[in-house]
Amino acid sequence: MANSCKFNACFLLLTLVASSIFTNPALCDEATQALIDKICRQMEEYAFCNDTFNRNLKGSTADIAALTRIAIEQTLSASKDTHDFVVGLLDKTTDLAEKNALTVCENAYFIVTDCFKQASAAFAQKDYDSMLKVEHQAPRA
Ligand SMILES: *[C@@H]1O[C@H](CO)[C@@H](O)[C@H](O)[C@H]1NC(C)=O
Repeated sequence: MANSCKFNACFLLLTLVASSIFTNPALCDEATQALIDKICRQMEEYAFCNDTFNRNLKGSTADIAALTRIAIEQTLSASKDTHDFVVGLLDKTTDLAEKNALTVCENAYFIVTDCFKQASAAFAQKDYDSMLKVEHQAPRA
């Protein structure tokens, strides 16, 4: 139960930080929206997923590689911001239980950020097997 609460707190932070980053909506063409829908319909949060892609498109069309780049960049950026935010909270917290919970959160976001740094490097080299391998380590963290 305690672990699930910590996880939810981390997820909430991630969602809050991520949603505050995106501000400029742009409309994409039908083929691109169909691709976005295909990806986002498999996600728990369709609207967040659809919004994230649409707000970060460079132009009105994107293929799977362009969408993958957006997903990696946004995840890395949100994870970094959340990690920094948690470190800031940790510095201010004196309550031991809270400090422990934040430390768990800090460790998890450090791992997630590192995974997506590696995924970003693998993507840049078109090494998609390695990219998927390191990304699969993130959910456990
Ligand atoms: C997906 O996002 C686009 C752009 O913001 C929007 O026009 C469209 O209605 C969204 N799709 C759904 C099903 O909400």
